[in-house]
Amino acid sequence: MSKQSQLNQLNAKMSACSLCALRPGCMRVVPGAGSAEAEIMFIGEAPGKKEDETGVPFVGAAGKFLDEMLSTIKLKREEVYIANVCKCRPPANRDPSPEEIKLCWPWLLAQIKIIKPKLIVTLGRHSMERFLPGQKISEMHGHVMRREIEGIGPQIFYTLYHPAAALYNGSMRETLIKDFKRIPKILKEIKSDNSCKNELSQD
Ligand code: URA
Repeated sequence: MSKQSQLNQLNAKMSACSLCALRPGCMRVVPGAGSAEAEIMFIGEAPGKKEDETGVPFVGAAGKFLDEMLSTIKLKREEVYIANVCKCRPPANRDPSPEEIKLCWPWLLAQIKIIKPKLIVTLGRHSMERFLPGQKISEMHGHVMRREIEGIGPQIFYTLYHPAAALYNGSMRETLIKDFKRIPKILKEIKSDNSCKNELSQD
């Protein structure tokens, strides 16, 4: 079965999920969007109001900023895959709880298993914490790491600030834009280097 068919099946199951308390308070599940064949998977936090209304991740102000940054590296959102650690909107856009993130984890894991991205770009601290627990985003942004995902195997991660956090913060915005521009080089490096180094170059 093609990756797209597998994702379609998964998304249909996800849309019927009621595992955590978020589902009754939101309009719909927002599984993810983009190419099933993507080399890069961006993982944010949780849907906001606009995402809940449309069923598409990152379509609000943070999403527009993400689209802009993608265009600076000559990518369209249709060429990458965009998802969140939580698939349902938390009330009043509060942070998702550790319990909600844990209950939603099997869905994200299944998406990663199907897409098999070469690079996972975490957006913000909740996404980073899920894969790289105990780290500080202020220290870890812009770092490339190879870590094991339980049940999947080794995976390369690149940690970035969340576009919503950086949107109205001048220096964080500049840092995020600068970190973002390194993505093509990192991907190229991954493709040409299949060795098992724990940290790729940080320049
Ligand atoms: N912020 C996120 O983390 N995800 C979205 O889908 C939208 C905003």
